[in-house]
Amino acid sequence: MTALPSVVAAPTAPQVLDRCRELVHPALKETVGRLHPWLGEMAAYSFGWCEVGGTPVVAPGGKGVRQALAVLGAEAAGAPARAGIAAAVAVELVHTFSLLHDDIMDGDETRRRRRTVWKAYGTGPAVLAGDALFALAVETLATAPGGAGGLRLLSTALGDLVHGQADDLLFAARPWRGPERVRPDEYRAMAEGKTGALLGCSAALGAVLGGAPPATVAALDRAGRHMGIAFQLVDDVLGIWGDPAVTGKPVHGDLRERKKTFPVLTALSAPGARHLATLLESDVEPAVTAGLIEEAGGRTATLAEARRHIAAVETALAGVPLEAGPADELRSLLEFLVHRAL
Ligand code: IPE
Ligand code: IPE
Ligand code: MG
Ligand code: MG
Repeated sequence: MTALPSVVAAPTAPQVLDRCRELVHPALKETVGRLHPWLGEMAAYSFGWCEVGGTPVVAPGGKGVRQALAVLGAEAAGAPARAGIAAAVAVELVHTFSLLHDDIMDGDETRRRRRTVWKAYGTGPAVLAGDALFALAVETLATAPGGAGGLRLLSTALGDLVHGQADDLLFAARPWRGPERVRPDEYRAMAEGKTGALLGCSAALGAVLGGAPPATVAALDRAGRHMGIAFQLVDDVLGIWGDPAVTGKPVHGDLRERKKTFPVLTALSAPGARHLATLLESDVEPAVTAGLIEEAGGRTATLAEARRHIAAVETALAGVPLEAGPADELRSLLEFLVHRAL
């Protein structure tokens, strides 16, 4: 398999995530504690802080990538980590809100190896808990010192996220071939919207709260967006060829669910794709389809595309003056995200 480039040594990345999680946790906990108790319990369940019913527990609560980006965005701009904490809280709340609603839209019953909030509490309550987290995120940012200036960034990111989610939902109903088929560039825009926008916003918001100049804010936004696309492309490779023991998802899961992922879409653009399209339309064993996608270059093309976005992150980071240590930590986060299980 074609390897992805190594950005910086990977092992430091989880340490970055841990450091930022510890920094942000008290503020996040305090903020979530202001919610209506019932909605707060659903949020706490989602963060891995409690069981259904509210009994405290330590369960997997997500990687915390967005909060780390916010802290590193502030630090990279030369501000102390604490300057980025309100941004970190806001983006983790938005992320959790988007997951609560996404799991309903996708009909997914498990997340982070536990029942999804809608499965555990019901759909209506999960929608409302998502709304509450959204409102709390806006309030957190609006009331933070210097945070009002970040609201514009957050609203742009939210608009892009919803746009990306809409396209993602609509892609499912589009055909595999013909003029209505989903093209790889449409996929790229969808991935930037649903995943990249919030990652970019996270790093940029941290920088805004850290008092960074507009060029630095824009560069961090761009870096995060490309990071999000690369992350999504790697996710697609893992969704077809990943080791279930590592990904926690079934092998060939995305093919079974007939997802319009980048490897499939690029393979369909290759000569002789007619046979592949016929297989995708039928009930054939996904292992056969996976083999054909690989033969048609879908896996290699996806990794090449991921590599382009990794390079674009580096270009964005190199284009503005940043503190060297936090900038390297941003690179290690990228390294971690794109080498999760490849
Ligand atoms: C998953 O994001 C949802 C997407 C936007 C693709 P993460 O993989 O960052 O989710 P957690 O928070 O670590 O579970
Ligand atoms: C989730 O995308 C994106 C948002 C929550 C905005 P997916 O639906 O592709 O991600 P998973 O697989 O549920 O994490
Ligand atoms: Mg989903
Ligand atoms: Mg989805």
